[in-house]
Parts: sequence; structure tokens; C-alpha cells
Amino acid sequence: MEKLTVALLGGGVVGAEVARTLLTRSDALAARVGARLELTGVLVRDTTKERDGIPRELVTTDAEAVVAGADIVVELMGGIEPARTHILDALASGASVVTANKALLAQHFPELITAAEDAGVRIEYEAAVAGAIPIVRPLSVSLAGDRIERVMGIVNGTTNYILDQMSKEGWDFDAALATAQELGYAEADPTADVEGLDAAAKAAIIASLAFQVPVAMDDVHVEGISSVSADMIETAAAQGFTIKLLAICERIDNADGTESVSARVYPALIRDDHPLASVSGAFNAVFVEAENAGSLMFYGQGAGGAPTSSAVMGDLVSVARRRVLGGRGQIAQQVRESGDILPVAR
Ligand code: NAP
Ligand code: HSE
Repeated sequence: MEKLTVALLGGGVVGAEVARTLLTRSDALAARVGARLELTGVLVRDTTKERDGIPRELVTTDAEAVVAGADIVVELMGGIEPARTHILDALASGASVVTANKALLAQHFPELITAAEDAGVRIEYEAAVAGAIPIVRPLSVSLAGDRIERVMGIVNGTTNYILDQMSKEGWDFDAALATAQELGYAEADPTADVEGLDAAAKAAIIASLAFQVPVAMDDVHVEGISSVSADMIETAAAQGFTIKLLAICERIDNADGTESVSARVYPALIRDDHPLASVSGAFNAVFVEAENAGSLMFYGQGAGGAPTSSAVMGDLVSVARRRVLGGRGQIAQQVRESGDILPVAR
């Protein structure tokens, strides 16, 4: 069977889960892809850290050596540099790229897409928005022939967890944030979560995909939750409202017949009987309104190592299969008899 080499940039919360999945499900993945996925290296800063599930011999600080010769590079280190440079190098070398790095995409989307197109390879980023929830592909593929009017939702798990714990359990802000960090929901610098910047990066990606115009972080109006106090949450609850950090991206019809795109992130009062009010913990929910499809709702775990690794692995299988097929046939695995799993006889 053909072999594809996979380099992992980052062996933290998400990277470790991806490494574990690649190593423990290798036979099932090979059957799905039609090629063996061989993990050849994991780039980290500190090689002395204990990393459950990642063999020590795969861990390295040598970025050039990890990327060189890889068929697929999975970037899970976060931040702008050196992630951007490593991704551009990987694309230029002909590798396919999978990334969960919304901060980078929100600043350099056109550059990264152009680099992938110039190199004739794919860059996929389903995990960059709303963790395990498939939302990038629905916006960019499934709804590509429709006209999306509005996308609205809870797209940051950390702040949803904090607000939820403050309102339901009476925790204070700092305790809730510390637990969100322990659970692997928060960014390396949690200010990005708390101040709404992570949600704004996701809003920029959502708006770019939904409305097919480049929307950057700076185009998004941002307010975080640091000004939301326990008193505000209590007062809202007494009046039948819940406070949630919302991202709202919509098409605006201007008076002169032109259109604009508005993207904003802010803590909003939601009536308790609205479906968004019951989105708890680190879960996310995204509503999409499109002309023909009508209303769609996407819901699931928006943060954490395992849920996010699911979206990363989906992209990894997709780019790997594309490399195997070389433009032939269907990317989605065709349903066929494998001999391993049989339908229950009636
Ligand atoms: P993390 O736990 O902080 O892991 C980052 C990893 O990258 C660590 O292994 C770190 O090495 C390595 N790294 C960082 N900078 C490096 C550098 N300059 N050189 C070499 N290695 C470097 O982060 P994470 O939570 O896994 O998140 C990774 C990416 O996924 C981010 O873009 C994040 O926004 C995105 N994401 C995360 C989640 C989530 O729930 N956690 C969900 C969706 C998307 P050391 O271990 O040696 O420090
Ligand atoms: N820090 C992010 C969050 C991770 O809390 O939603 C998922 O993108």
C-alpha cells in the first residue's frame, strides 16, 4: 500500500490527540484513505516535556527537518510566526496543509489560499472554527450555490464555559477561566478568548467564506466578556435573559443599492427560551440563514483536544485521499464492501 508522510507542527492539547489518533487508528485510517499515514515528526519547543501518546523519538525542535519531505503538514502550534512561514514553506514544497490556526487565517487568509493554489495543493482548516462542528465545509461547499444572508452563534468555548459556570454554579471569573485552561479549551494566551479576539478571528473566517469577500480581524467589531460581572449575569437572569458572547456576520443592503458585510462580536442578552441560551459549557452553536436552504443550526463541542482533533483528522483524511486519487474519483469515501464490517442480517 502507498505511504503518505505526515509532519505535525505542535504537540500540545490538540497536536497530542492528533498524534494519538494517527498512531492508534492507523489501520482504519489506511483503509479509509487508501494509503498508510506515517507520522514522521512532531515539532515542539521543549523536547523534555512528558507527552502522553507521542513517542519521544518523534519529538523535535528542528522545524526544517520535520517539514522537509512531508506529504502532509498539520500545523497545530498556533500564533502567527513561525506558523505562517512553516505553512508557506510546506505549501511551496508541494505538501498539503491542515491547520486549526484561526488567528493566522484571520490575518493571512488570501496569502495562504493563493500559496496553496499556486502550488496546486490543498490547505484545509475545518478545526479553525467551532472545534468539532463541521461549519467551514458547509459554508464553503455545501451552501456554495445558495445565498447566505446571516451567520450567528456562539463560537468560543472558553467564554461560554466561563459565563455558564458564573451563572449556574456561582463561580468567580478567575476560577472559571483557570478550569477552562486546565480542560484545554483556552488559547495559549487566554486574553484572546476573554477579550473576544478568538471569536473575532472565527467571525472573520466565517464572513469571508459566507460572503466570499476577504474579511480580516480588523474589520470585526469586538467586545469581550471581561466587563461582564456576576451582578450583570444575576440581573439578566432575574429578567429571563442569559448573557452569551455572540458572533454575528451578516449581509447589509445599503440605501444606494450596494451591499456590505458586517461582522461583530459582543456579549449579548439572549432570552432564556432561545436555543442559544441553553448552549452550555464549551459547546458552540452556529445558525446560518440562507435564501434557499432557510435556517440551519450547527451544534457541538467547540473546544478541547479530542473534539478539535476530530475536525483536524477529517481534513487530514480529505487531503490524503485527494493525494491518493490525484484528481480522479470522489474524495468522500465511496461506500463499498470492505469485509470488515457487515450489515446485520435481517
Ligand atoms: P497548545 O496546547 O499551546 O500547543 C501548542 C504546541 O505547539 C505545543 O506543543 C508547543 O510546544 C508547540 N509550539 C508552539 N510554538 C512553537 C514554536 N515556536 N516552535 C515549536 N513548537 C511550538 O495549543 P493547542 O490548544 O493545541 O492549539 C493549537 C492550535 O489549535 C492553535 O492554533 C489553536 O488556536 C487551535 N485550536 C485549539 C483548540 C483547543 O480547544 N485547544 C480548538 C480549535 C483550534 P511545547 O509543547 O514544547 O510548548
Ligand atoms: N480557545 C478556543 C475556544 C478553542 O475556547 O473556543 C477553540 O477554537
